[in-house]
Amino acid sequence: MLRRELLAIAALSVLPSVASAQDSVKIGLILPMTGQQASTGKQIDAAVKLYLAQKGTTVAGKKIEVILKDDTSVPDVTKRLAQELVVNDKVAVLAGFGITPSAMATAPIATQAKVPEVVMAAGTSSITEASPFVVRTSFTLAQSSVPMAEWAARNGIKKVITLVSDYGPGIDAEKSFSDKFKADGGTIVENLRIPMRSPDFAPVLQKAADAKPDALFVFVPSGTGAQFVKQFIERGLDKSGVKLIATGDVTDDDQLNGMGDAVVGVINAHNYSAAHDSAANKAYVEAFKKANGGLRPNFMSVGGWDGMELIYGALKKTNGDTNGEKLVAAMKGMAWESPRGPISIDPDTRDIVQNIYIRKVEKKDGELYNVEFATIPNVKDPVKAAKK
Ligand code: DHB
Repeated sequence: MLRRELLAIAALSVLPSVASAQDSVKIGLILPMTGQQASTGKQIDAAVKLYLAQKGTTVAGKKIEVILKDDTSVPDVTKRLAQELVVNDKVAVLAGFGITPSAMATAPIATQAKVPEVVMAAGTSSITEASPFVVRTSFTLAQSSVPMAEWAARNGIKKVITLVSDYGPGIDAEKSFSDKFKADGGTIVENLRIPMRSPDFAPVLQKAADAKPDALFVFVPSGTGAQFVKQFIERGLDKSGVKLIATGDVTDDDQLNGMGDAVVGVINAHNYSAAHDSAANKAYVEAFKKANGGLRPNFMSVGGWDGMELIYGALKKTNGDTNGEKLVAAMKGMAWESPRGPISIDPDTRDIVQNIYIRKVEKKDGELYNVEFATIPNVKDPVKAAKK
């Protein structure tokens, strides 16, 4: 064969793969699959896989391809992976982000590359302001801390010590709880903070035991709650008359059953419970457990599930166009029913609007659950709402 003919055949044989590459939409999913935050990675990865299995991998004529990367929850690694996914893999969307520093480290890349950054887990209010390409499907800490403060003030709690992880979401939880509790007539005795990495709760718990407030308000990130509760019990605080109140990150569905009966009765506020009473959630919990050896889905998982719903919905609206500005425009104002209840994306802030539930830990059929008993509907991030 002539060289020219060979070249023509070679060109033909590469054509189909070029065409299919153009017809596929890549999503770079960056999660902590190992390290302290590994439960967050596992939950979100499982939710994304379940979403793909249930909804299929074709949207608006495009094939969806998810590329999973483990950032070990080290923000420098997150940033490098985001850069590689944009430059080498040409992803249309960056998604995941187990902790605030990882989401923040990626924001300049999202801005430069004009690629949407779908935040599925992190909860510091300011993340959505770090780039016009950030859209959040998780939660903010103020969303749950303000209703928790309101409930406490209305239910006979007068003196509170706050105890939070010393980084973005913890500082938001501390400030939003304290401001609301004081405005409602309560007293904050002390604001205590503990390191986010490898926390030792003993010294701060001793302080709380000595000061004897009516309640201790706590935020620790997902994956750390069981360790906190263990030390709370070891120091005898569960029997000291100091009530434990918290954001639902502490009584995390992923770990709740291992915390033991000492947490029965703990009041907390959050966006999702595996016990949420809706047909959509029952189907979600059943399918999630079936696909993951009985693992119970937690609030991180729904951030992943809804992140996929957001990306699929936006692609449908743009008819498969992956232009980042068009995708973000399509995401603004989207609304749907999540396993957690009705949610939407605030078109002004690109942040999630969702119900917050006040829950009580109860034992049902031998298992511990966060049972919702009050609903605050359609909560916008209070930190951003206060700036307006
Ligand atoms: C963040 C991480 C968590 O695991 C959590 O429960 C809440 C917030 C964060 O880093 O933003």
